[in-house]
Amino acid sequence: MKLGLALKSFLLGALAFDVSMARPRNTYTEVYRPQYHFSPKQNWMNDPNGLVYKDGIYHLYYQYNPGGDTWGAMSWGHATSRDLTHWTEHPVALTARGFPDNITEMFFSGTVVVDEDNTSGFGRRGKAPWVAMYTSYYRIDQTLPSGKQVRRDQQAQSIAYSLDQGMTWSTYDAANPIIHNPPPPYEDQSLEFRDPSVFWHQETRRWIAVISLAKMHKVLIYNSRDLKDWSFVSEFGPVNAVGGVWECPSIFPLAVDGGNSEKWVLMLGLNPGGPPGTVGSGTQYIVGDFNGTTFSADPESVHDGGAPDSSLIIEDFEGSDTLSDRGWTVTGDFIGASPAQGSLDGQNPVTGFLGEQLLNTFIDGDSTTGTLTSAPFDISHKYINFLVGGGSNVNETAIRLKVNNHIVHATAGTDNEQLSWHSWDVSAFQNQSAVIEIIDNATGGWGHINIDEISLSNTRARNGQANWLDWGPDFYAALSFNGLPQNQRTILAWMNNWQYGAVIPTDPWRSAMTIPRRLALKTIGQKTTLVQEPALNTKDITNGGKLSTFPRVDGVRSLGRLGKTLEINLTFSNRESSPTGTSQFGIAVRATDDYNKLTRIGYDFATQQVFIDRSNSGDVSFDATFASTYHAPLTPSSDGILSLRIFVDWSSVEVFGGEGEASITTQIFPSNDAVFGQLFSAGGETSNVRLRVKEVESTWR
Ligand code: FRU
Repeated sequence: MKLGLALKSFLLGALAFDVSMARPRNTYTEVYRPQYHFSPKQNWMNDPNGLVYKDGIYHLYYQYNPGGDTWGAMSWGHATSRDLTHWTEHPVALTARGFPDNITEMFFSGTVVVDEDNTSGFGRRGKAPWVAMYTSYYRIDQTLPSGKQVRRDQQAQSIAYSLDQGMTWSTYDAANPIIHNPPPPYEDQSLEFRDPSVFWHQETRRWIAVISLAKMHKVLIYNSRDLKDWSFVSEFGPVNAVGGVWECPSIFPLAVDGGNSEKWVLMLGLNPGGPPGTVGSGTQYIVGDFNGTTFSADPESVHDGGAPDSSLIIEDFEGSDTLSDRGWTVTGDFIGASPAQGSLDGQNPVTGFLGEQLLNTFIDGDSTTGTLTSAPFDISHKYINFLVGGGSNVNETAIRLKVNNHIVHATAGTDNEQLSWHSWDVSAFQNQSAVIEIIDNATGGWGHINIDEISLSNTRARNGQANWLDWGPDFYAALSFNGLPQNQRTILAWMNNWQYGAVIPTDPWRSAMTIPRRLALKTIGQKTTLVQEPALNTKDITNGGKLSTFPRVDGVRSLGRLGKTLEINLTFSNRESSPTGTSQFGIAVRATDDYNKLTRIGYDFATQQVFIDRSNSGDVSFDATFASTYHAPLTPSSDGILSLRIFVDWSSVEVFGGEGEASITTQIFPSNDAVFGQLFSAGGETSNVRLRVKEVESTWR
């Protein structure tokens, strides 16, 4: 009897075990599993594809490998949501042809439109067809059912249609690929021709497709009446950031400052060559006009390098004189040194300087230290502009302005060998005598500073080379939803980076999408700027949180246990930066109870930048570039207030600064017990601090 029971319970146990093995009940509770960001149950995901809104439902397709957790048999995965917040994953929409053993064609990135007027003729019985346009990537030389011949590794554009609201799809085999080759004179680019983004253009009553010639940094514009037969009508590029291939381009209109005037935005991925201080992928945008055939950029959105107008040069480091012969007082290892010509170790290319030479304190490696002080000069203009790169610690590697022997400005690099423009407003010191001092007392990694083209000017240098949509490392292949009104233009991006995407320590899935973000154009500092606002519906998934106010914060103030999924609003007053040390205020999240591991999100008053520091955030071991700090420029509002909106999940932090003009997106991999938080104010006290922390519930339960 006893034995029988024991046997039965053993059998039952075994049965239960078996069932759970066959169908793992996925609770989305694995370590690092995003709780309110979309991630597939299992396997690899990259770019969002085919974003479309129809009848109250948001559809998200995405680059997906049904066969593994790294990039592979690229197919289109599919998920839907009614609120952009809770997602349901569906069966794979387009599975790589021949999967798993004999793949002949993969489905790369593309978009979906609802063909309301059945221009394509795919509709049946009055039902509007949905049409997906994507890049076919052919794995072998082959003759297709359409009779067209394609080569191994060729990329061409194809379509598929759905008659059941996007759930199942038929490829248009009778004619695919419907754009077989790039147009003349670009026929030789057929291996780098991809990522069509399609939309309906009412004014010309045509479909428009924007496709990338990735290596040439061009986007090609096509139009069509029926989504099948396409004409090449114009091209755009290269402009601005071209440090890697151009991928996933799209264009769309937005109102300027919510008014009647409208501008078009070209949004595109760049890999590598992302924002300063990042390695790998990034996303840039260009503001301009679209007349139905041609996209033309606004001059102010295209950067010639950002140099200020009519300047009085203080120092350009050109010519053969040593630094002291040029009038600098030099100490330490800089005695006898001369300006540098690009890279000093022949390995790390220094870029972005003007002319032939610059100052680079990487003389005998990072270990060299010393100080350079300029001859005194009169402050005769409103700004001092210069190019700066190198180490980011303003106490160690910095350029400083001294008036009356007091340091009134100090700026460091951003741990980057690419110089970028920076300017100091010196209107308060008009006609006074000043000196510039360049210090390097750091001997370790990033223990050098790069400077060029120091000048006086009445115009501010613009920080040159691109308009970044997001200044973090984990924001790529952004795409907006078709089917929403113009004032609800909403995007998702892949929250990962090709630099380390395949080795992030998550299992059994890899990659998540960012939170959805609504876009707008606002005039900020006289420039038409793309701003982002979180479009997550957090009302249903957060408590009201608690508002804490701190008249003053100095040093570190513990906030105790905050949790792992947070929406944080933090505002505080701008302040003078400390002349000698770091001047930062912010919040640390996902900290262990001893605060040894944490992620810092804050503002640097000296450089006027928002930052996320993930250098000590948890597991950073899988990639040498991961442990870093990322910066986005942000000017305080006219009333001197800074505001940060921060979204923390089990493996990510997204920060939106100001009116949404500064966003930084980063992945982090903290341990499960990293639930604590603290405020920090370095180099002085920060006042009028208001903090609201809401805990976000999981959207998977
Ligand atoms: C961008 C990208 C696209 C391509 C897809 C392939 O991340 O390289 O250009 O279509 O990924 O998965």
